[in-house]
Formats: sequence, structure tokens, C-alpha cells
Amino acid sequence: MDYSNLKVPTHVAIILDGNGRWAQERGLSRSQGHEAGFENLKNLSQYIFDKGIKVLSVYAFSTENFKRSKEEVDFLMNLFVLKFESYRKLMNKKGIKIVFSGERREPLPQRVIDLIEKIEENTKNNQKGIINICINYGGHSEIVNATKKICKLVMENKLSIDEINEENFNHYLFNDLPPVDLLIRTSGEIRISNFMLYQLSYAEMYFPKTYFPAFDSDEFDKAIVEYTKRDRRFGGINYENKDN
Ligand code: FPP
Repeated sequence: MDYSNLKVPTHVAIILDGNGRWAQERGLSRSQGHEAGFENLKNLSQYIFDKGIKVLSVYAFSTENFKRSKEEVDFLMNLFVLKFESYRKLMNKKGIKIVFSGERREPLPQRVIDLIEKIEENTKNNQKGIINICINYGGHSEIVNATKKICKLVMENKLSIDEINEENFNHYLFNDLPPVDLLIRTSGEIRISNFMLYQLSYAEMYFPKTYFPAFDSDEFDKAIVEYTKRDRRFGGINYENKDN
């Protein structure tokens, strides 16, 4: 689809949901569903950046996902370690910086933490866009963490309480990113599930029934068409729209 005359969102966030059900419907294992999800993320994220979106956040693994079977958790961690190198190369070619949001500690395996840090270091000078991958991530923990960072700075007399405001609070989150304009959760679930609570305040939300491995560029186009129809008022009134 041609995006040239469209008002494209700056920051899109996607909750990657439905890998398991996609696999089950095809008589495949959950692991095969995750592999298909990863392949789709590779293709879809390239398309998204090619269309001029500047920031893409994806919920790849929540802190709560550690409650899944050891087999499934190990599979996903290994998938990341084994397959992410090719993804890093792709993003480097496109000038996309890769950042990660989430707690960098147990139960996340040390080899995953090391790789996260290596990838961030390797792509940190890229300027064309940012992909923010949320692993061992929770929205509450992000806000609590930011509060702790601020308290520490205040206690060390490096920051005064009066200097903290809604604009610069963002700076203390896992990554300092613009607010989310469009949130997509695939697979028909209509929940936020502790994702980017601070950044989602005025996001438009889109909940397609499609499972993530099948959420391709055509499906993304539909989300963008829907987004362009929304009347974003940010709590105000749009006087150009007579229906208000
Ligand atoms: C949700 O589907 C998906 C996940 C918990 C994992 C998402 C991971 C990827 C797409 C691969 C990328 C991986 C990394 C580590 C970058 P689900 O398993 O909850 O599906 P279900 O609800 O149908 O069971």
C-alpha cells in the first residue's frame, strides 16, 4: 500500500500474541509457532520501517511468561540466541537501532543478557529508526524502576523534586521513547497485559483476530487504514469534525 499521503504514526507497539494457537490450528508444535512468529517479526518490522514509522516496540517476552513450561521458556531463549544475529545484520543495513526494555537479571539467562548488551552496543549509532524489544518486561516494574532511579538522584542531590515533570519522567523509563500512537494486539485478545503503561496513555488501539505469525504487511496496512480514520483529540475537542 502507498503510505505517501497518509498520516503515519511515529511509534507503533505490537503485542505479539497467538503463536501457539496458530501452530495448534496447523497441527504443529508451539515451538514451530514461535519460529514462525520470529520469521514474521523479521519481515514485518522491515516493512514497517520502510513505510516511515520511526519507532516500533514489540512485546516478545513478559516477566509473567517465565511461568510457562521450562521447555517453552528454554526454546524461546535459545531462539533468540541462535537466530537474532541475522536480525541484527538486517537492522544494521537499514540503519535501525535495537534497544531492549525489561529487567536485566534472573530469571533471564546470563547469555541472553550478554547478547542484549552486545546488540545494543553494536547498533547504538544507527539513526533511521528504533526497534524496542521488550523481554522480561512488565509495565509496573518499568514505572517502579524509574521511581527508584529518580529517588536515588534526589538523595544524591543530583536532582530536585521540583524538576521532575511529565515530560522528563519518560527519561527514567527503560528507554526514552516517544509516546505510543498505535497499539496492536494480535489474536483477538482485548487486553494490555502490563505493556508500556506509561507510554500508552493516548494510544489508539487495534485488536485484529489474526494470529501473530499471519499478521503480515497486508494486515498491517489494514491497521494503518483504521488508525487514519480515528479522530485523535488527546482529551480536547476537534472543532473541524462536526460530529463532536
Ligand atoms: C505469544 O504467543 C508469543 C510469545 C510469548 C513469544 C513471542 C515471541 C516471538 C514472536 C519470537 C521473537 C522472540 C524473541 C525472543 C525476540 P502465545 O505463545 O502466547 O500464543 P497463544 O496465546 O496462542 O498460546
